[in-house]
Amino acid sequence: MRSLVSGLGSQLRSAASIALPALPDANELLILGMGGSGISGDYLAQIASAHGARISGHKSYGLPGWAGTRRPVVLAISYSGNTEETLSGVEAARGLDLAVVAVTTGGALGEVASTEGWPVVNVPGGLQPRAALGHLLGTAAMIAAGSGLIPSPAPDLEEAADLVDSLTEADGAGWALASDLAADLSTRAVIVYGSTGLTAPVAQRWKAQINENAKRPAWFSVFPELDHNEIVGWAADPGVNRRLGIVTLTDRDDGARVSSRMRITREVTAGDVDWIGEVRSQGESPLARMLSLTAVGDMVSVALAEASGIDPMPVAPIEDLKNRLREES
Ligand code: PA5
Repeated sequence: MRSLVSGLGSQLRSAASIALPALPDANELLILGMGGSGISGDYLAQIASAHGARISGHKSYGLPGWAGTRRPVVLAISYSGNTEETLSGVEAARGLDLAVVAVTTGGALGEVASTEGWPVVNVPGGLQPRAALGHLLGTAAMIAAGSGLIPSPAPDLEEAADLVDSLTEADGAGWALASDLAADLSTRAVIVYGSTGLTAPVAQRWKAQINENAKRPAWFSVFPELDHNEIVGWAADPGVNRRLGIVTLTDRDDGARVSSRMRITREVTAGDVDWIGEVRSQGESPLARMLSLTAVGDMVSVALAEASGIDPMPVAPIEDLKNRLREES
């Protein structure tokens, strides 16, 4: 997993020069996908918003009720091609005769796309979905541009790739920072704070990477909403709160009021929560800034796993749950 994390940059770079099939023009895009595949939809919703375009993510069965009236182009992302929620949305899109584009390694999604003649981009196989973020996100961004929604992301993917490469360089400063953070977090349940906008989906990615790579509980919350509820809970039970560590992800576009909220929230929770830290984005483009934080989170999750002697690769509970659901279908 350590080398896969270090490969994020080269995945982004290869996505920047990917050959795309002919794509439908889109006024808006609805991205279907779960877990390690679906997070790309959350990232792209923010990138599109920065360009004044609308991309929505859908992480459940079927389609949102507005899909039939707004008629978005549907982009189905499933690394395995066999995720039932995503396939259910694809089936609903087929029923509504919506334009569908697929990103996958094959599976049932690859089959239905080929039967229907939908455009498909096949990403390299043999990885864990969460370790294919650069392929999935980069490809989805290129598809969003190919459908006319956003400008070409290729320059931003290149910037992100260079930045991620420098951060994840073997024995470099990025891994040292990740090891320091992991040492501080190793005895604590981790809560990752982002803010509405670029860092919210990155906080979600940190949480999921810590769950799956380090096999540890972790959650994420988002400013400014968390100031309207979560901070009340911190004072409740020192026995619980003393086992928590909060990492806040910050970005230059957080805005003055959110930055004030982050500072004041830190001040008011400092007496209740055992450990509070901050990681700031680097880079210029929104994509590069998101991916700089992503790289640090990925490294922290691996460093946490290594510190506990845990293999970051397998995710047996996810496989077991999928198998049990399959038996019941
Ligand atoms: O990390 C994982 O393995 C999961 O979150 C999967 O990405 C999720 O279950 C969806 O599977 P897929 O990415 O194959 O559609």
